[in-house]
Amino acid sequence: MHWNPRPSRQGGGQRDEPLTLQQVSQILWAAYGVNRWGKRTSPSAGACYPFEVYVVVSGVEGLTPGIYLYDGKAHALELIREGHFGKTLAEACLNQRCVATAPVNVVIVAHYERTTRRYGERGIRYVHIDAGHMGQNIYLQATALGLGTVAVGAFRDEEVKRAMNVPGEPLYVFPLGVPGE
Ligand SMILES: Cc1cc2nc3c(=O)[nH]c(=O)nc-3n(C[C@H](O)[C@H](O)[C@H](O)COP(=O)(O)O)c2cc1C
Repeated sequence: MHWNPRPSRQGGGQRDEPLTLQQVSQILWAAYGVNRWGKRTSPSAGACYPFEVYVVVSGVEGLTPGIYLYDGKAHALELIREGHFGKTLAEACLNQRCVATAPVNVVIVAHYERTTRRYGERGIRYVHIDAGHMGQNIYLQATALGLGTVAVGAFRDEEVKRAMNVPGEPLYVFPLGVPGE
């Protein structure tokens, strides 16, 4: 299901319908949480788990706008920086409207060395495959919740890094929201 931003009822540039904390929680759990057997919800070569999952919150009921880090083991969000970062992130993503209007953007950041220290050069391939699995979980969970998303890989790396100001290499952005009719 594609994230198809609903034409704003409040005029251009306004944020879309907010998500609930429950919806965001479920998406993050499916992406990088821990299941009842103590395993992560997405597979990773050699269980290296080379990612950090950040959430750029623009509109979530009960959450201050800002950049959060998802702690999968604790199933908790840590506020990294308060503020509105959706617009800057969207500019870094070649001004894609879906990123600008999404109430939530999940940003997957890779730490290649966690995998390459074990597998060498081949680890790079594994990191990308792992990211695909996580992305697929986000798609599946979003669909199950009646939400829309789209994998966004078209962005300027350095600009996303500046917008996020967190360590690691941004690989994927997933805008999430209530799909248009
Ligand atoms: C690695 C990757 C990067 C992508 N980057 C973007 C993007 O930056 N913007 C966008 O709108 N769609 C992006 N997409 C979504 C594809 O355009 C989309 O999956 C494709 O057009 C097929 O459409 P479907 O998924 O609806 O079947 C990306 C998909 C993948 C797998």
